[in-house]
Amino acid sequence: MTEIHQELHERRILGTELLWAFGVGVLIAAILSMIVFTALSIGVNPPSNVERLDPKALHLSGEFAEDNLGTSVGSDGRVVVRVIATQFAFLPRCIPVPVGRPVTLRFVAPDVLHGLLISGTNVNTMVVPGYVAQVHTEFTRTGDLLMPCHEYCGLGHSEMWATVQVLPENQFQPDSNGRVSCAQR
Ligand code: CUA
Repeated sequence: MTEIHQELHERRILGTELLWAFGVGVLIAAILSMIVFTALSIGVNPPSNVERLDPKALHLSGEFAEDNLGTSVGSDGRVVVRVIATQFAFLPRCIPVPVGRPVTLRFVAPDVLHGLLISGTNVNTMVVPGYVAQVHTEFTRTGDLLMPCHEYCGLGHSEMWATVQVLPENQFQPDSNGRVSCAQR
């Protein structure tokens, strides 16, 4: 190859490289802008809550004892949902929430890694044993939503799901202890 040929060859390679670099740059920019867009428009954020809890003693006492699971309304009107994700069910299996009000969801796991999402909402988190996974959201429409486990957790993984019942304000009635149960249908 003469020197002039060599140079043309190198330029062609450089051209291809720049083209690929441009393509990858566009792709990264598109992905980053999607992340920023969904974060700002519909509140899709990575969970940032770091709160430790002994997974071996969850059920014995404290916040995640059996009596405290499910939906409760505090004296300040705050709606908090506490759920245990365990092989292979969510406890409780039906979660009542009010429409159009801020809701705080708190999940823990006593055994292995689980995950969950609530269809059509920004709720999507992993549940790591030893930590409380916390998500804030507001449900915009009434009706039943599916909440499947989305992290492979064993043979019964595909059977692990709960129902989120989004209730209109007049059906979301806390009892004297501030507890709310799913409406019977
Ligand atoms: Cu729990 Cu998959």
